[in-house]
Amino acid sequence: MLNYMQNTPYYFYDLDLLNRTINEVELNIRNSAFRVHYAIKANNNKKVVSFIAKRNFGADCVSAGEIMLALECGFNSADIVFAGVGKTDEEIEYALLNNIGMLHCEGLEEIQVINEIAGRLNRRPRVALRLNPDVDARTHEKISTGKYENKFGFSPEEFAELTQQGSSLQHIEIVGLHFHVGSQITDTVVFKELSERINELVPVYEKYFGTLHYLNVGGGLGIDYQNPDVNPIPDFRNYFETFRQNLNVNVPVHFELGRSIVAQCGSLRTKVVYIKRSGAKTFAVVDAGMTELLRPAMYNAYHKIEKYNNALALSNGGVYDVVGPLCESSDFFGKNVPLPELKRGDILTIRSCGAYAESMSLNYNGRTKIGSVTSEHVLTQFRIIKVA
Ligand code: LLP
Repeated sequence: MLNYMQNTPYYFYDLDLLNRTINEVELNIRNSAFRVHYAIKANNNKKVVSFIAKRNFGADCVSAGEIMLALECGFNSADIVFAGVGKTDEEIEYALLNNIGMLHCEGLEEIQVINEIAGRLNRRPRVALRLNPDVDARTHEKISTGKYENKFGFSPEEFAELTQQGSSLQHIEIVGLHFHVGSQITDTVVFKELSERINELVPVYEKYFGTLHYLNVGGGLGIDYQNPDVNPIPDFRNYFETFRQNLNVNVPVHFELGRSIVAQCGSLRTKVVYIKRSGAKTFAVVDAGMTELLRPAMYNAYHKIEKYNNALALSNGGVYDVVGPLCESSDFFGKNVPLPELKRGDILTIRSCGAYAESMSLNYNGRTKIGSVTSEHVLTQFRIIKVA
């Protein structure tokens, strides 16, 4: 086998932890009318997606590309939901031709386009209306989606207009409601507030569209970035229990969980290229960058950083700014990070990178996609350096 340690940077996925996390989700929804769809946007690595597709989950997709991937990895089309605020005509067509289980529709113009395309293709898709519930997710502003100032879901004005023209949409079947108020939500009060808001909105929906047949409350459950070893699996019991206790509906409830399923099973392994000093600062310049993990640059997000195989040895250590090689000062992974003494060639592990790392990777500065290794030590692909 190739010595993959030499081939940094790469993502490492612990499939055993992923398995235990999925078991925990399943344990907390068994014998209930709860159904979980894995939000593919969190991690689109084929090995990870295929692993999840073997379990009892559906998939939540936001583009034709994600639908294609979900089908390729083994999800049934009937178990796929398709969301997104800007679905193109081609994507809607693709979803309809592949008999995707549910379209989540976010606005008035969009629903008319779906109706028109469905008529042309002689289909009658099931559609759920994503309503903006004006609930504050109390998370980072860039990942809050449920307030009126956000672009997502039907606004009250557009929803009111739809209630007046619902019956003219003959080629679609409006069956229910969809919500998603944000991501990395750590305060369960948010889910309680969302449930209460849903209880208010369901009768309004039913007045115009008849009995509610489908309800999807989105995703958003947060993880513990500070203590990935203490809390490798999120508190799914409390999460599902909050909805169980506060939702007052009589239909199956669908969830779209991304981060909480995959974040803790992934790490980014990277090698120190240089140690550099400037005044009081010491930089550890590593071979991964914001192109492989954008979250610190984009959200100022914290990720725990450890020296590989040396997590606890802090003696004779230093304090480092761990930075990437890209031409941006926002290209960093951590500032003032206490670490054992580092030297050129040392390997670092950046934790909690299973969600929104590989799936948000970029080609900026001419960088190519990096490889991944799973706990089964399967090498999938590595960065290919083009030599002229
Ligand atoms: N459903 C909808 C409609 C969504 O927009 C999202 C995430 C999810 C489900 C899954 O949410 P989760 O369970 O993963 O929180 N790039 C950001 C996160 C963006 C989340 C986008 N939507 C980050 O790195 O924190």
